[in-house]
Amino acid sequence: MSEQTYIMIKPDAVASGKIGRIISRFEDTGLVIERMELDTLSAEQAAANYAEHEGKPFYQGLIDYITSGPVVKMVISGPDAVAVCRKLMGVTDPAQAAPGTIRGDFGLTMDANVVHGSDSPDSAKREIGIFFGDLK
Ligand code: RTP
Ligand code: MG
Repeated sequence: MSEQTYIMIKPDAVASGKIGRIISRFEDTGLVIERMELDTLSAEQAAANYAEHEGKPFYQGLIDYITSGPVVKMVISGPDAVAVCRKLMGVTDPAQAAPGTIRGDFGLTMDANVVHGSDSPDSAKREIGIFFGDLK
């Protein structure tokens, strides 16, 4: 079934000039980019996106990092878009992510892991609201 997911190219990958190559990975599957914008996240948007991690030891570093520079925000759609994108991205830690995945090929450390993708269709709806809705 066709569904939407929220994908974000993180500050490390934008700063090091990898936007084009990363977007190509998603386009190559046949999934469709419905919306796309270069933006710097507010602290409020970052906190809303990562609310599930509040209180964890890595939380503040994660918020500081994700607001540290421009990101590319995207809504991507197509059959099983959430799962297809998570598979393309690879596991959270780039050191463990398989070669051929975005994190495996373009990342090195857990705290600057190149790309974010929604982990379920419900998360996607929530995140699209945060990043393409009214929250500034
Ligand atoms: P994301 O939300 O960014 O797409 O990543 P994910 O689903 O693969 O991983 P998640 O568990 O949601 O973690 C969010 C981000 O927090 C950082 N993290 N650090 N040091 C740690 O143990 C740790 N665990 C998570 C990562 O940067 C991860 O992308
Ligand atoms: Mg996550």
